[in-house]
Amino acid sequence: MPRYQQIARQLKTAIEKGELKPGTRLPSSRTWSQELGVSRSTVENAYAELVAQGWLTRRGQAGTFVSEQLRLETSPATPAVFAGENDTPQLFQMGLPALDLFPRDIWARVMGRRLRTQTRFDLAVGDVCGERLLRQAIVDYLRVSRSIECLPEQVFITSGYAASMMLILRTLAKPGEGMWVEDPGFPLIRPVVAQESVVLMPVAADADGLDVSAGIRDYPQARFALLTPAHQSPLGVALSLARRHQLLEWADRAQAWIIEDDYDSEFRYHGKPLPPLKSLDAPQRVIYAGTFSKSLFPALRTAWLVVPLTQVAHFRQQAALTACSVPVLWQQTLADFMRDGHFWRHLKRMRQHYAQRRQWMDSALTEQGFSVVPQEGGIQLVIAVAGDDNALVRKANQAGLAVQALSRWRITSTGQGGILLSFTNIRSAEMAQQAAYQLRLALT
Ligand SMILES: Cc1ncc(COP(=O)(O)O)c(C=O)c1O
Repeated sequence: MPRYQQIARQLKTAIEKGELKPGTRLPSSRTWSQELGVSRSTVENAYAELVAQGWLTRRGQAGTFVSEQLRLETSPATPAVFAGENDTPQLFQMGLPALDLFPRDIWARVMGRRLRTQTRFDLAVGDVCGERLLRQAIVDYLRVSRSIECLPEQVFITSGYAASMMLILRTLAKPGEGMWVEDPGFPLIRPVVAQESVVLMPVAADADGLDVSAGIRDYPQARFALLTPAHQSPLGVALSLARRHQLLEWADRAQAWIIEDDYDSEFRYHGKPLPPLKSLDAPQRVIYAGTFSKSLFPALRTAWLVVPLTQVAHFRQQAALTACSVPVLWQQTLADFMRDGHFWRHLKRMRQHYAQRRQWMDSALTEQGFSVVPQEGGIQLVIAVAGDDNALVRKANQAGLAVQALSRWRITSTGQGGILLSFTNIRSAEMAQQAAYQLRLALT
């Protein structure tokens, strides 16, 4: 086989395997010929052959590119327009805020200002519990947005929910102690709990949130109750006020700890939220866990805990062993961003966008005949389905749609099947319609 054909075949294979993505610029024939030790015309001939076959396109001075057209023609396995490239989220991908709407210019400005004005002391290791400035900004935010009264000493900055959980359990748990967890509930935290030798005790969640009576009946000896009261993950219901009081009474009586995961309560579109457990925590049994992953962006890897005053010294001791791993510059930037009012403005703007995007997705799914479960807030949707949701989700995943099966979030509970999906990165009504259509197509 002539050398130019060998080169053409190699390129074609790389494109077919997805190693060379549509839109990728190829090296100039001069560079390539030098690299390969062949004449320039050999490379030119290889390119020409692939251009003729539609694999490559030439764009004058700009060079030779892998054809964009391929993106539109790929099999349903990599859906048109939404192909999961590194810089675009997969369609319906959960756990992500709207990446297109984060005010990156403001963030860069705030960080740049910090970087220029940092003192030499800022180059040293920061406070093991987190920067004072950020902890104060979180205190101010929680007071206004969640009616939680606390002191900066009670706030501990961590690098995410898993790190928060490890800090809690290493401070408070003994091996073999038990923890109520919501069933269905967020699956990714379970291995973290299990790794700390704490026993998972599944308690059903229903239309009023975690069934506290069932927890007391089945696992009265539990030392921890982990739950998402504002907006149960994934069902989206709120823990009723009666159950909030029942849970607090149990925790006080049993000397157990409640871990309130308030991961996305910023996003509520109707009505007033119920008060967080932490704001009702007269007995000092609640550990509140917040995160910036949904309200800002997950790559920030910044979350926080508010612990009871009585436990501050213990948490501090434990935190000193690992020290806060969020860089000081990040924390200071975040604190400035909050203090300058950008955080509030961003949340307000995102609530409007999410309400809109949710409505686009909800309507588009309904038009395609899906039954969307009504929810008060949050950044995901659940579609109720009959039969085996795993089989359906497998089909959708094969079509490149990053939906999840509700039954995968269950531990022992049984019940209605569901498809979980996120709408945050749905940027227009048309995109919602196309996405809903693709889902319908994948499932039939
Ligand atoms: C239920 C729940 N809690 C907490 C988190 C936050 O995790 P992190 O702060 O590690 O991003 C998530 C993120 O997806 C979540 O779904």
